[in-house]
Amino acid sequence: MTTTSTDKNRVQVFDTTLRDGEQSPGAAMTFEEKLEVADCLDALGVDIIEAGFPISSQGDFDAVSEIARRVKNASVCGLARAGFKDIDRAAEAVKHAQRPRIHTFISTSPVHMKHKLNMGANAVLDAVGVSVSHARKLVDDVQWSAEDATRTERDFLCRCVELAIRSGATTVNIPDTVGYATPQEFYELIQMLFNRVPNIDKAVIATHCHNDLGLAVANSLAGVLAGARQVECTINGIGERAGNAALEEIVMALKVRGDLMPFTTGVNSTLLSKASKLVSNVTGFPVQYNKAIVGKNAFSHESGIHQDGMLKNVETYEIMRPETVGVKETSLVLGKLSGRHAFKDKLANLGYELADAAFEDAFRRFKALADKKKNVFDDDIAALVDDEIGRAQDLIVVKGLKVMTGVGIPPSAEMTLTIEGKDKTAEVTGDGAVDAIFNAIRELYPHTVNLQVYQVKAVTEGTDAQAHVSVRLEEDGRTVIGRGADTDTLVASAYAYVNALNKLLVKRRKQAPETLNVAQ
Ligand code: KIV
Ligand code: ZN
Repeated sequence: MTTTSTDKNRVQVFDTTLRDGEQSPGAAMTFEEKLEVADCLDALGVDIIEAGFPISSQGDFDAVSEIARRVKNASVCGLARAGFKDIDRAAEAVKHAQRPRIHTFISTSPVHMKHKLNMGANAVLDAVGVSVSHARKLVDDVQWSAEDATRTERDFLCRCVELAIRSGATTVNIPDTVGYATPQEFYELIQMLFNRVPNIDKAVIATHCHNDLGLAVANSLAGVLAGARQVECTINGIGERAGNAALEEIVMALKVRGDLMPFTTGVNSTLLSKASKLVSNVTGFPVQYNKAIVGKNAFSHESGIHQDGMLKNVETYEIMRPETVGVKETSLVLGKLSGRHAFKDKLANLGYELADAAFEDAFRRFKALADKKKNVFDDDIAALVDDEIGRAQDLIVVKGLKVMTGVGIPPSAEMTLTIEGKDKTAEVTGDGAVDAIFNAIRELYPHTVNLQVYQVKAVTEGTDAQAHVSVRLEEDGRTVIGRGADTDTLVASAYAYVNALNKLLVKRRKQAPETLNVAQ
C-alpha cells in the first residue's frame, strides 16, 4: 500500500458540531458561542461546517446566516428536510456563504418510513427526486442523506442513491443514524453502493456514524477504506444520544496510521486541543479524562515503568507527540512578577487576542490570581480569559461576596451585585453555601428560571487549582450556560450563575427589548 497522498485520497471533513452536536440534550449554544465555534472550525481547516437547521427556529436561521457571512474558507451548510419550505429556508440562510451547501434528507428504512414518515417506498423515492432537484435549483452544492441508511433495504437504498445523484446531489451521505452498524458491515455497505449504483462516481460518498455502540469512529474509517471521501463528525464526538464520530479521533487516526490508511484531511491538528476546550466550555459538556486525543490524561504517564520508558525514549509509550494535537507540557511560565508584555505574549501563544480594555481587565485578574496561587498554568490563564470574554458586556456584575458556613451555623451569603451601574447588597441564607449565594442573586435580581445543571471542575492540579463552574439555566425553553473560574469554588459559582443570567438577559433583549430594564 502506498502512503503518497493524491486528490483521490483526500478526505473531506464535514463538521456538524453546530447542528447534530447542538442537538445533544443540554448542549444548546448561544448565537455568539456558535460564531466563536464556527470561527474556530474554519481556522481548524474543516471543509464543510454544518451550521444549523435553519427552519427549526429563528435563532438557528440567524446563526446559520451570520456564519455563512463570516466563514472564509469552509463551505457553510444548512440542513433541510425534504419539503420545499425547509429547503428554501436553508437556501436563504446560506446564501451569503462563499461556498453555500444545502443538506436535505429523508428516511429510507422500513421502520422510519412506516412509523415516522407514514410514507410508502414510492412516495419516498418521489420525495428524493423532487427535493434534490429543487435544492439544486437554489445552490450548486447539494448533499442528500438517506436517514437510517444502515437499516435500509439494500436494493431500495441503491435506487434512492442513484436517483439523488441523477437529480443533482453532489454528495450522498450514508448515515448510521442509530449507531447500529459494525465496521465490517459498514465497509460492505459502502462497497456495495460503489459496486451497484451506476452513477456513483458522480458524487462524493459520505459517512455520518453515531456512537451508540462506541463504533462511530471505527465505522467512519471503514467507510473511508471502502471509498467514502467525506466524513461527518463533531468536536469531542458530541451529538444525538451517544454522539457522533469524534473529529479529532478520525483526523489523528488517519494521520498516525497513514501506513494502513493513506488518506489526508485539511485539518491543522495542532488546533484540535483548543477546539475541544472551546466546545466543552460553550456546551458545558466536560471531556472525559481518558478521551482519546483531547482527554486530560491522553498524554499523561502515571506508572513508574511507563515514566521510566518515556524518559529513555518517548516512542516507548507514545504513538504521537502531544504538540501534534496542540497539547503543550503544562508550564509555569507566568507568576506574580510577570508584566503586561509577558502576559500579552502568553495570550498570543494560547491563541487569544483581546481588545485593550478586556486585556487590562484580564491582566488585573491574572495578577490577582498570581497573588493567590502558587503556580499559574496555561490552563489557568485560558480559563481566566474565557471567563473574561464571556463577561465583556454584562449588565449584572459580582462586586462583592462574603460567605459564612460551618458546623452548626446556617450557611449565609452577603453579596453585592452591580446591576446596570447601581450597587445592591443582600444577606441571605440557604441549604448550603452555594444555595445561599444563588438565593442572594435571586433576592437582588428577582427572576424565575430553572437551574438545570451545576457543575464544578478543577482546571489545574492542587488545592489552589482554579475551580471552573458551569451553570445551566432554563427559561421558557431557552437554555444558557454560564461559566465562572476562580481559585475559590464559591466565588466561581457566583460568577457562573451571574454569567448565565446575563446571557438570558441578552436573549430576552433580542426577543422583547422593552422587558429588559425590569427585573423579572
Ligand atoms: O443521524 C442522521 O441520520 C442525521 C441526518 C440528518 C444526516 O443526522
Ligand atoms: Zn446524525
